[in-house]
Amino acid sequence: MKNQASPATEWVQLAGQFARDNKQTSFLLKRMKAHDIFIYEHSLREAYYSLLLAQGLGLSGKEQEVLYRSALLMDIGKLRVTYKVEANLDESGTPSILMHPQYSADILKPFIDRGLVDGEAVLQHHENLDGTGYPYYRTWEDITLNARILRVADSFAAATSYDKRKGTVLGIEAALDELYRWSDMMYDADLVNMLCHYYGAEIKKDKPEKTSTLRLINH
Ligand SMILES: [Fe+2]
Repeated sequence: MKNQASPATEWVQLAGQFARDNKQTSFLLKRMKAHDIFIYEHSLREAYYSLLLAQGLGLSGKEQEVLYRSALLMDIGKLRVTYKVEANLDESGTPSILMHPQYSADILKPFIDRGLVDGEAVLQHHENLDGTGYPYYRTWEDITLNARILRVADSFAAATSYDKRKGTVLGIEAALDELYRWSDMMYDADLVNMLCHYYGAEIKKDKPEKTSTLRLINH
């Protein structure tokens, strides 16, 4: 697995295996796929990277399972967002796309109540350590480990794959560079370092100048 992104078959097979034993998860994934194939494929990729990080951290099998399911379904709330009108506001005046973590948590409440999904991780998966994330602008002390894992895995998956709305793809090394630039601000540096370790990138001693590139891929 080192030195290259996971082959497509690896994250597809992993999700397929999981879906066979988890009928309700499978149902929601099918709904997601029917709604938007890019969201679906992205979810499979970021869930794969989330699991990779969870295993690297030595989380238990049960913790890995809950995190993996949370990662697969954390964007299900996007089914309530109309992309053609991204400026759509909810009743509080917040663009609805920025509320998709809350929508996801609402949809997944039956899973959360049964301990099958980490509700806080779903809610916080776009929060940044420095408080610049969304939807609730939480800061590092209030962001859970699982949410930090999802945040890093999500951005890595987004940066390294084609998306019709972004249209750009970074290579593995460039993606890791961007994650590294923003570590300790947006991302948990230990998790970024772990990804660098898996994919063979050199950890730079001095951080390069910040750029805004990652914000463009920070959907
Ligand atoms: Fe998301």
